[in-house]
Amino acid sequence: MCGIVGYTGCCQAAPILLEGLTRLEYRGYDSAGIAVRDEGAPRIEVVKAKGRLKNLMEMTDSGRAVRGCCGVGHTRWATHGEPSTVNAHPHDSKDKRVVLVHNGIIENHQEIREALQRKGYVFKSQTDTEAACLLLDSYYAESMGGDLSPRERALDAIHRLMIRVRGSYALGILFGDQPGVLYAARKDSPLIVGCCSEEMHGHMIASDVPAVLGFTRNVVYIGNDEIACLTRDERHIYNIDCEEIEKPVTEIQWDAAAAEKDGYEHFMMKEIHEQPRAVRDTLSPRIKEEEEKRFIDLSETGLTDEDLAGISRVYMVGCGSAYHAACVGRVVLEQLAHVPCEVDLASEFRYRDPILEERGLVIFISQSGETADTLAALRLCRECGVRTLAVVNVVGSSIAREADAVMYTWAGPEISVATTKAYSTQLCALYLIAVKLASARGQIDEARQAQLIEDMLALPDKIERVLSDKERVQWFANKMAACKDVFFIGRGLDYAISLEGSLKLKEISYIHSEAYAAGELKHGTISLIEDGVLVVGVATQPALFEKVVSNMTEARSRGAYLFGLTTYGQYAIEDTVNFTVYVPRTDPLFATSLAVVPLQLLAYYISCAKGLDVDKPRNLAKSVTVE
Ligand code: F6R
Repeated sequence: MCGIVGYTGCCQAAPILLEGLTRLEYRGYDSAGIAVRDEGAPRIEVVKAKGRLKNLMEMTDSGRAVRGCCGVGHTRWATHGEPSTVNAHPHDSKDKRVVLVHNGIIENHQEIREALQRKGYVFKSQTDTEAACLLLDSYYAESMGGDLSPRERALDAIHRLMIRVRGSYALGILFGDQPGVLYAARKDSPLIVGCCSEEMHGHMIASDVPAVLGFTRNVVYIGNDEIACLTRDERHIYNIDCEEIEKPVTEIQWDAAAAEKDGYEHFMMKEIHEQPRAVRDTLSPRIKEEEEKRFIDLSETGLTDEDLAGISRVYMVGCGSAYHAACVGRVVLEQLAHVPCEVDLASEFRYRDPILEERGLVIFISQSGETADTLAALRLCRECGVRTLAVVNVVGSSIAREADAVMYTWAGPEISVATTKAYSTQLCALYLIAVKLASARGQIDEARQAQLIEDMLALPDKIERVLSDKERVQWFANKMAACKDVFFIGRGLDYAISLEGSLKLKEISYIHSEAYAAGELKHGTISLIEDGVLVVGVATQPALFEKVVSNMTEARSRGAYLFGLTTYGQYAIEDTVNFTVYVPRTDPLFATSLAVVPLQLLAYYISCAKGLDVDKPRNLAKSVTVE
């Protein structure tokens, strides 16, 4: 989604803004712009361009042509109004008295627009953001000539804006008559302040950590309904009533290199290869040993064994791949812990008036921790008083902060829009919860627990083995790059992984694909199978192996070309399929962690073979902060 960067300090702002925006490119965008204030100039300069950042770079000679030490920048992912220069941010009021960038959505923009038009304001764009910009301008103008200081006037106008608008926002604001001062405010859309190092001397704002990492690791997380006022030397944070508050500075533990490609052609490939490390980092700190017995320690969640034993039902909620991880989690949890589990898409959960049991536990799964639907579902549960647990990757994100408890997945920064390592760590977090719940409820004995833990700890090496065979998948992907339709089929956990395999393929290769429970094929979908259609059959579950293979045979009889994905030892599959990939054996409950890797690779290599933008697929955004 959209990205915000701002800077005020002793260096030239434009190159810093462009560098920061480059770090946010992965979030997805279709236009970009910067606004910079040169102390000597009569007004703020705004430059915007449709399309990629390189257009803006060319227009500004990589920022050198825009002078000044204070500014804001933005990459826009269109919501209200088409992608165009005029709809791009920053937006500005007459004479650039107010210049503003915005992430999120102003829900009551139409009503604000009409009220402002009645007062004589003229709108240039179709965006909701311009309504916020001009409204702020009107409040700022109203306080002219009084005895408030410039900062008090700005704070008062921002405060009034925050009360008047509905929706979500992170704002970066410049006032034309306050050179060198950068304001920011937020509600339900992430925003941080970066405290720059000695040589850069100053402050930054950004919608995501990677934007500031090249300049500082010290950040302040701006909370909901908070306002920041920043200059080269000063940093003040206020609550919505404009009372100054203290906020801690947090040191980001990962560095800029973690957000670099590290020699890989794409972030996605780098992140696929980071999975053994990410899985290990997520599992190991939670597996403890005492008197030669291993056990799972989830004390970070505050859930005691007694709490776990008392849970009557588990609900899992997420979007996209996080939802697919929940589909896997449900099977593992129900089989091990014998607790009923419901899985919901966050966007559906909210509107179905869910019946939540008092002793229920709702698990929210999210890489970014900012997905609007998941966050709204979490808030709904909190209102109902049911216990909530967040499984989140981004430290300090909204979902992590608002849930009763959080279990971080230690995937590290994920840049590619298509998730890989974050999904894999979500699976691990859910395995840990399932095994812990099963043991707290006496559903598994010590020997079974020990075996499950051993199998989990062996996953990183086994993922490594799957990766070592990637050229085989590449060869197949090159052969299939021109196909038009792909079906992924499986049963049980293999159906859950089919959902993820199909999403990976369609989002980055733009090939139409569907995932079906293998047994459902003949209830309608099989009519779509004809010569040359690729069917990927996933058959890692021994108990269901023969049934999936027989469903694949049905597809082959209608002309399908078959890719079989199974575990070593299940060689009988070769009698049916055209091409096979084997993954190492593990407890069948954890096979998804291995089977997902060839499916990620298949999508990746097909996207590369088609010459597509693997890391930034069209129309998609990394963090979906709108409903
Ligand atoms: C797919 C993908 C998306 C996300 C979904 C939820 O590759 O990345 O489907 O899984 O948008 O995002 P988070 O996990 O940030 O809540």
